[in-house]
Amino acid sequence: MLERHRGGEEHIAEVIDFGMNGEGIIKLDNYPVFVNNAIKGEKVKVRLTYTKKDYAFGELLEIIEPSPDRVKPICPYYAKCGGCDMQHIAYEKQLEIKRLHIERTLKKNAGLEISVPTPISKNQWKYRNKLALPFGKRGDRVVLGFYEKQTHKVVPMKFCPLHDEWASNIIRIVSEWANENNISVYDEIALDGFLRHLVVRKLDRAEIVIVGNGDKLEYSTELVLKLKKELGNYTLYFSPNTERGNVILGNTVGYISGDTSPQDILGLKVSLSPLSFLQVNLDVMNELYNDVAKQLDGYDGDIIELFSGVGILTSSLAKRMPKSTFKAVEIVPEAVEDAKVIAKKAGLGDRIEFICEDAGKYMEDLSISQKKKALIVDPPRKGIDSNVIEKTLLARFDKIIYVSCNPATLGRDIKLLQDIYKVAYIQPYDMFPQTMHVETLVVLEK
Ligand SMILES: C[S@@+](CC[C@H](N)C(=O)[O-])C[C@H]1O[C@@H](n2cnc3c(N)ncnc32)[C@H](O)[C@@H]1O
Repeated sequence: MLERHRGGEEHIAEVIDFGMNGEGIIKLDNYPVFVNNAIKGEKVKVRLTYTKKDYAFGELLEIIEPSPDRVKPICPYYAKCGGCDMQHIAYEKQLEIKRLHIERTLKKNAGLEISVPTPISKNQWKYRNKLALPFGKRGDRVVLGFYEKQTHKVVPMKFCPLHDEWASNIIRIVSEWANENNISVYDEIALDGFLRHLVVRKLDRAEIVIVGNGDKLEYSTELVLKLKKELGNYTLYFSPNTERGNVILGNTVGYISGDTSPQDILGLKVSLSPLSFLQVNLDVMNELYNDVAKQLDGYDGDIIELFSGVGILTSSLAKRMPKSTFKAVEIVPEAVEDAKVIAKKAGLGDRIEFICEDAGKYMEDLSISQKKKALIVDPPRKGIDSNVIEKTLLARFDKIIYVSCNPATLGRDIKLLQDIYKVAYIQPYDMFPQTMHVETLVVLEK
């Protein structure tokens, strides 16, 4: 029987482990307490903030004996912003925590006893190509910032170390435009006001989306003039979002102004709708996709890729695997349209069939052939549906290449495939340094 502790209690204890979000874990007798910002090996003073029967959360009050892995976070907003979890931990140690987290999760969820290598990493900072910030008010001023942890209070921010300087520049330009023109900010309670979010994807040029509660972008001419003067090359879109809730982009995105010519990714000419998914860290994506190609080196069977997004992986594989035919399945229509254009520009239009459908539905209807074939999946965090697993087992793919952004669902799915497949290769990639997230490439073979 665990002794139940109460909120407000203060304790001094040693941090004995890390949790799945990079937090430290102390134990009061056997009662686990999760403490943000505490590192394994440290002696800390904590106050219990939220207690349940089996566990509690605690606030770090004092570090009595710091860990040698503790470093000073470089971001001034780190304590308040919920974007990063691990800036206080030396980078090498972050990688080790992620490695161990995958190893333990695969053991727990799939019963796998395998040793997982250190995540491959390219860049600790300035790696994100995508920025999404809410608009808020500070007195009379319109600000752009982040939601303070567990609230919807916008804390103004001028820069983020996960993005390069382009981000600070655009935050400044867009905030100036909003203030010069006195544009109202959306109020989630009163459901009035206009500006909701700024979303930017930066490849060769910045593609900027203003999300507003209305059907057209207010003061668009003024913003276009500013962007032309300050950035020169840009694309501006407006996304109307009049729905309640936390979804950032509306269902549609309309072009307003600027360059729409294709940009270069992995040697492919790419034009993307802001509604299409793109990995946020292109350097690491590049390494990961090269590794996928290496795992398929010499393979000449057909390839089905589920959750294919804008098909950058499919197209780059099709270039390297001239004997294979490809089917790429993706649910977002804009991404499928982008994928078709990318493949056509690369001269691969007739080698890849792009299918806009739910992956589960596609697999349900798949007729099973005896041809040599491999499956690639790169699902969202929730992993793949059980009907996809059932059909995969029936279809007897030679190989399954599983790119996962969530070790928990990766483990669950591997367990369901284990009757026929075993892990032949595993390699994590640090797509999201300073956060607890990690990408894992797994090859399963019969
Ligand atoms: C993690 S992303 C991977 C995209 C792509 N492989 C890449 O690396 O850019 C997951 C993709 O799955 C798509 N998706 C989500 N649910 C889906 C479903 N039920 N069926 C098909 N695609 C889905 C998303 O739109 C997104 O493009």
